Amino acid sequence: MKIIICKNYDEMSQTAAEIVAKQINSNPHTVLGLATGSTPVGMYKNLVKMNKEGKVDFSNVVTFNLDEYVGLDKDHPCSYHRFMDENLFNHINIKRENIHLPNGTAPSLEEECKTYEKMIAHAGGIDLQVLGIGHNGHIGFNEPGTPFHSLTHVVELAQRTIEANSRFFNSPDEVPRKAISMGIKTIMQARKILLLASGKDKAEIISKALHGPITTDVPASVLQLHPNVTVILDEDAASALDR
Ligand code: PGA
Repeated sequence: MKIIICKNYDEMSQTAAEIVAKQINSNPHTVLGLATGSTPVGMYKNLVKMNKEGKVDFSNVVTFNLDEYVGLDKDHPCSYHRFMDENLFNHINIKRENIHLPNGTAPSLEEECKTYEKMIAHAGGIDLQVLGIGHNGHIGFNEPGTPFHSLTHVVELAQRTIEANSRFFNSPDEVPRKAISMGIKTIMQARKILLLASGKDKAEIISKALHGPITTDVPASVLQLHPNVTVILDEDAASALDR
């Protein structure tokens, strides 16, 4: 695992964007795995800027997002479809047909999960997967206890996740209780992984994930088994690591 410690959130975001841009510049047909949440917002801002400046071209890039809430329509203001449009896709030269997120309103969620896996395989697999980390160690919506062999599946959100994500909704009651998420195995099959974390509140879980036992109790600890992971932290998120 390569760990890069940056001064602050802005430097973390810039560093992450440069890694993603380098990947796309070396393979314009890159298949990117993308994440939502507050953490990657700064990285997306930098990528939008680099795209406008002609430093990175998304015209042949294919994307797959980690997850989507069950029951929220694409156009729902809190859907991850909307989040991605607003933070990235509406501002770059990506082709709409190259963008993929699970459909949280599919008539059969089970079928949707299988189809999503097939689409990833059909695209040739994910070259670079961007990840954030939950306070409980989740990656995607793979909450503690999720088996490491899981593929894209329907998940019940942990209470802690519902509370954390309620900041995007009017009240915790409005947060969907379920989501479709890539599984741990889906994530681990990506050729490269980029894990981002910032802030003191992530310090403890980062220390457990990177240096603690590999256990389904801390889903992100599985990343210790992946051959090509880069972790980008700000100083606060790195503050509980032994250095
Ligand atoms: P955050 O979410 O970036 O909003 O902290 C991360 C996650 O839950 O995976």
